[in-house]
Amino acid sequence: MINKSHKKLHIKTKVVHGFKGYDAHTGAVSFPIYQSATFRHPGLNESTGYDYSRLQNPTREELEKTIAALDNASFGFAFSSGMAAVSTAIKLFSPGDHIIVSDDLYGGTYRIFEEIYKKYGLEFSYIDTSCLDEVFKSFKTNTAAIFIETPSNPMMKISDIEAISTFAKSKGALTIVDNTFLTPYFQQPITLSADLVLYSGTKYLGGHNDTLAGLLVLNDEGIAEKVQLIQKSEGAVLAPFDSWLILRGMKTLGIRLEKQQENAVLIANWLKSNPLVDKVYYPGLTDHDGYEIGKKQSSGFGAMISFSVKNVGMIEKILERVEVIIYAESLGGVESLITYPMVQTHAAIPKEIRDRIGVDEKLLRLSVGIEDSNDIISDLERAMRWDG
Ligand SMILES: Cc1ncc(COP(=O)(O)O)c(C=O)c1O
Repeated sequence: MINKSHKKLHIKTKVVHGFKGYDAHTGAVSFPIYQSATFRHPGLNESTGYDYSRLQNPTREELEKTIAALDNASFGFAFSSGMAAVSTAIKLFSPGDHIIVSDDLYGGTYRIFEEIYKKYGLEFSYIDTSCLDEVFKSFKTNTAAIFIETPSNPMMKISDIEAISTFAKSKGALTIVDNTFLTPYFQQPITLSADLVLYSGTKYLGGHNDTLAGLLVLNDEGIAEKVQLIQKSEGAVLAPFDSWLILRGMKTLGIRLEKQQENAVLIANWLKSNPLVDKVYYPGLTDHDGYEIGKKQSSGFGAMISFSVKNVGMIEKILERVEVIIYAESLGGVESLITYPMVQTHAAIPKEIRDRIGVDEKLLRLSVGIEDSNDIISDLERAMRWDG
């Protein structure tokens, strides 16, 4: 359970100080890395509270309690990757269960559902969860959960977390939100009635493109027990050093995201006015379809932008010519990254779904970093200069 007094602090303070924040034994301000696989028992049937690091480790525990505190949730769990967190959430369900999933979502999530969990008797429907009618229409008697990504990856669609969670609850189903793009700094789905919230901690939470991590937070004690059982039985836990890297990264989550968002707004507007660009997908643009819902449920719009160019021939040139922006998969770090979703992050998604949602050969995704915004814009301007 989280320390109740944390609930009163502003998120800007919580990210800096974490759960305990320092080591009570030594006063070390940087929470120690407990690099130990096992822990000495004081006597027969006695424990310090730590027995073996697959079950619990003090550094991982500090991270788990910190992410729970940031999300105003009761329980937090840290895994070796975002996909391990997704996988754990899906293991809560049984053969025959049906799960409604945002059709626009990270390709790896689609892949694990279709290529792994379908074999175990789970059924998935991919729909546009930004459209509530579609969510209502897709609900079946065996629907056990609704899994949403909002903003979605890469088309930045916004799903109404509270409306979906309230509907799911009324039908006895769970709502799971992948909150990787906004993090608890900008959006706290548990406070909007979602049941489980998960993160690729690899992205904004870590923030430095140096660590893989996954996190899961929730309120229900019964579900927490099941998640803990899966976590300790499977052992896809986050290592002590990696837990420390995420804890350290999270201290600057607030200032990083503020700067990244400030840059993203400038870049999204610059792209919008660029005659070589066809469409810009950024939830912070007032003409974005999800702008009003985004404003209602989040305190920021984040720093992920997708855009399509008018001429497909530009794609290869842009990817080769960028110098400040790095052509690489992933997102959320201090460095600006550009990705070609069709061949990278979303290659696992079948063409008919990609065509339906708009992930085509003209679409690029930009993860805006903390660099000087003029340098990012000049880099794009130069890379996009069309020379036939
Ligand atoms: C939205 C989203 N969720 C989950 C994941 C998976 O996270 P990881 O790469 O840490 O396993 C990703 C990875 O790109 C992602 O973008």
